[in-house]
Amino acid sequence: MDLYAALRPLIFRLDPETAHNLAFWLGERVCSWPRLPKPKHRASLRRGAFGLDFPTPLGLAAGLDKGATLLPLWKSLGFGHVEIGTVTPRPQPGNPKPRLFRFPEAGLILNRMGFNSEGAEVVAGRLKHRPTGLVVGGNLGKNKETPEAQALDDYRAAYRLIAPVVDYTALNVSSPNTPGLRNLQAPEALKPLLAGMLDLRKELGLERQPLLLKLAPDLAPEDLDAIVEVAVTSGISGLIATNTTLDRGVVAEPLRARVEARGAGGLSGVPLKAKAREVRRRILAALRGRLPLVACGGLGSAEDVQGALDDGAALTQVYSALIFEGPRLVSRIHQGLRPQDL
Ligand SMILES: Cc1cc2nc3c(=O)[nH]c(=O)nc-3n(C[C@H](O)[C@H](O)[C@H](O)COP(=O)(O)O)c2cc1C
Repeated sequence: MDLYAALRPLIFRLDPETAHNLAFWLGERVCSWPRLPKPKHRASLRRGAFGLDFPTPLGLAAGLDKGATLLPLWKSLGFGHVEIGTVTPRPQPGNPKPRLFRFPEAGLILNRMGFNSEGAEVVAGRLKHRPTGLVVGGNLGKNKETPEAQALDDYRAAYRLIAPVVDYTALNVSSPNTPGLRNLQAPEALKPLLAGMLDLRKELGLERQPLLLKLAPDLAPEDLDAIVEVAVTSGISGLIATNTTLDRGVVAEPLRARVEARGAGGLSGVPLKAKAREVRRRILAALRGRLPLVACGGLGSAEDVQGALDDGAALTQVYSALIFEGPRLVSRIHQGLRPQDL
């Protein structure tokens, strides 16, 4: 029996952030079980990407486990990798509540969390005790009060603490809920940011550790092409696409009016699917195989994940579908994936 499906009507009656906190409270108890089930992956699901070995191409996207508190649980559910964060260098509370809304009838989430983060020091401390056999990425952001011009200092401060205790890092310049953050995607802002991060990576002796960049779905096609060129020439290791969208046009009426009434924030889940795929295809065409791409945005079934891999993505990530479908989603997707072509 799918316990999550049975409990879903009750869970969805709770305020979304209360439900999230309750799930994490329970999850922390589960993580302390001495005998958590071990995931069994078909050997054919294995993938290599940016020099790392992944037991499956399916991972958990950033934003759910911001503080790296449930890593044993994600591993047990069968995720091949987990992107923790976004972690900001200093702790910050995020935006005022309510800031998280779900629309189950459309498989849609609206959030304006605004990087609630315990800060890099606390999260790094926790990561020192991370489980083995799970690839962990650290998604990094800047603090809200840090001016755009000093963003690099924030990313570097977070990187110094997080990079030594993860397998890869991802620079988040695409969340819509930190004012000005997305401006860092402009080529003239991106070049010094990436150069500064790669310098630090070298200084810390982490040259072999992959550094990725996570992009928004709301960029014009020509801008995407320009960003791809900056990314490739900079020497970073790959791209993640996409983050949430600000575009209310992805939601059809009459739901759109209800979504708009909830105010600002990024949209994710089923309504993001087509837009994210279009953006990824444009990026893949511009990349011409020069860097790997991690697909994210609206993926919720084996067909979606297979489609992203067939398009050329090296790996995939889910977030919203896990909220609506529950933990069984992971095995359901794995069962429906084609063995990797040999
Ligand atoms: C509540 C919520 C919080 C999120 N927080 C972050 C975050 O802190 N950093 C980040 O890079 N992406 C964050 N995301 C974006 C997801 O990682 C993902 O890119 C996006 O939700 C699209 O995937 P999905 O349609 O599978 O949810 C968040 C998404 C949601 C729904």
